[in-house]
Amino acid sequence: MSDYYFEEEEFTTEFNGQTIKRIAAQTKPYWRWVVGFLLLIGLVSFQDSVFTYLSKLIIDEGIVPGNVERMRQLFTLYAGMALVQALAVFGFIYLAGILGQRIQYDMRETLFKHLQALSLSYYSKTPVGWIMSRVTSDSSRIADLITWGLIDSTWSTLNITAALIFMFIINWQLAMVMVFVIPILLVIATIFKKKILLEYRRARKMNSKLTGVYNENITGVRVVKALTREEKNLEEFDGQATKLYQAAYRAAWLSALFMPAVQVTGAVALGAIIWYGGWQIQVAGMTVGSLQAFISYLTFMLWPILELARVYAEMQNSVASAERVFSLIDAEPEIVDRPDAFDPGTIRGDIEFDHVDFYYEKDKPVLTDFNLHVKQGETIALVGPTGGGKSTIVNLICRFYEPKAGVIRIGGTDYTSFTLHAIQSRIGVVLQTPHLFSGTVRDNIRYGRLEATDEDIEAAARLAHAHEFIVDMERGYDEEVGEGGNLLSTGQKQLISLARAMLAQPEIFVMDEATSSVDTLTEALIQQGMETLMAGRTSFIIAHRLSTIKRADRILVIEDGRITEIGSHAELIRAKGHYYSLYTKQFHRQAESSYEQLYKQAVAI
Ligand SMILES: Nc1ncnc2c1ncn2[C@@H]1O[C@H](COP(=O)(O)OP(=O)(O)OP(=O)(O)O)[C@@H](O)[C@H]1O
Ligand SMILES: [Mg+2]
Repeated sequence: MSDYYFEEEEFTTEFNGQTIKRIAAQTKPYWRWVVGFLLLIGLVSFQDSVFTYLSKLIIDEGIVPGNVERMRQLFTLYAGMALVQALAVFGFIYLAGILGQRIQYDMRETLFKHLQALSLSYYSKTPVGWIMSRVTSDSSRIADLITWGLIDSTWSTLNITAALIFMFIINWQLAMVMVFVIPILLVIATIFKKKILLEYRRARKMNSKLTGVYNENITGVRVVKALTREEKNLEEFDGQATKLYQAAYRAAWLSALFMPAVQVTGAVALGAIIWYGGWQIQVAGMTVGSLQAFISYLTFMLWPILELARVYAEMQNSVASAERVFSLIDAEPEIVDRPDAFDPGTIRGDIEFDHVDFYYEKDKPVLTDFNLHVKQGETIALVGPTGGGKSTIVNLICRFYEPKAGVIRIGGTDYTSFTLHAIQSRIGVVLQTPHLFSGTVRDNIRYGRLEATDEDIEAAARLAHAHEFIVDMERGYDEEVGEGGNLLSTGQKQLISLARAMLAQPEIFVMDEATSSVDTLTEALIQQGMETLMAGRTSFIIAHRLSTIKRADRILVIEDGRITEIGSHAELIRAKGHYYSLYTKQFHRQAESSYEQLYKQAVAI
């Protein structure tokens, strides 16, 4: 179970200068905005501390001596500043909000483009969940760091500095006390915040594992019940739930301890100030307003200190997020166009595997010294036991992967001389697990040829025999297929994928068990459409059903990455070798005569 979940990289405690530079580079196009909001924050925190000083002036110069004129002046100033303050706060929050969105937009776009460029090998090695959380939560965490992290840390630092300056102006001896208190408070707060964050992170991780357990058990409920796994699964769930509880418990305990610790330190500082300030009033003639302002500055400072600690702790988290996003951006696609790659216009001619070696993982060879020559227009069927290498061969033809050694030639030219786009846009692929995109049936068929008219779409659907079930649906071609096409049956999805491939009119056609979930009658019907489509086109067909295989020009029996037999149906039957035994074992239920009958019936309908 635990193997299934990718472990999040541990919390990095070191700041990586390189990463910080790259994060900063994200703001480059928007540096004017950054300067703008930093200036506004500067204004806001300066005014914040002036307000407290104004209160001191109002007490000392207005209220105590009873000077109404002075009070009026100071209040007018106060009101004017409050108005400016309101505008500035609005300005920087608005700017930061937009900036955050811009940065996220840029990052999402970069990531999306990059994800589309990455090769299949990356996807088969990397869990989807890992990629998804890079694209969603990690990228927004970077934007938050650049905007709110920058705002909060600037605001806090400026407030603390401004308050200290005013404290020194009021009474430097008292201010010296603060010079000792601030670092102590900062250190305590940072340590706590970091620990709390770490525990929350653990709890979050546990929580996502628990969600996974729920998810697997809900989606797999039939299997759970069928195999009476309820007891065992409950045990597994309990184990995960307990871990989550413990992590959350520690986080709650630390959070609870944090505020009292800060308050006690603050209270000690306050006591010292009042005691020392009282003595200054008695002996050195300090005013009551001054002491009052001083105490205000102390409380005024407490919040920015906590904020600074929080931002610092979170920043490490965000830098770790950024490192993960950058590692995704830095992943190089394995298959890229050669610098001199060209588009030959059409991809025609014989396809040749010349001493091809291939493996997915280094020490597990799948194809070794594989040779094959397919003539232009030939229909090749691939049969053989599970794991033999059939899909691998077609993956190589589609250039989803490239040979590790040897050459694949199309029309006599090494296919790596062509651009990927040239090859992949002209190969029509239909897979066993068809994938549809959310949208209508029509959108899905049109996917590979956007300029196709509605008539073209219907013609392709008729050829694939998808038309019948499509028009039976309430909204016909405008029916929504749901996410991944999950509102349709597997067989229906296969028919739509087939129509999609037919519409695109590819030059090479690849079907990897493309009709395995379609009923026999429909498959027999599709046969005609496929024959129309395959006429003159080089086609590779992997299928377990006799009908499809029999009509191929040549049948390849693939076992352990090797061609063990090659020839037409009749030749291979006569040879009484592998194909013959496969045929008699695997296909005996679809006895030839009855199949022929079925086909004739089907064609007659
Ligand atoms: N993405 C992958 N990463 C690592 N190994 C893989 C990958 N895909 C396939 N393999 C391995 O390569 C070998 C050939 O697999 P392939 O999918 O080509 O078989 P197949 O003949 O299509 O089988 P089936 O009839 O079950 O579809 C198998 O041993 C398989 O484990
Ligand atoms: Mg396969």
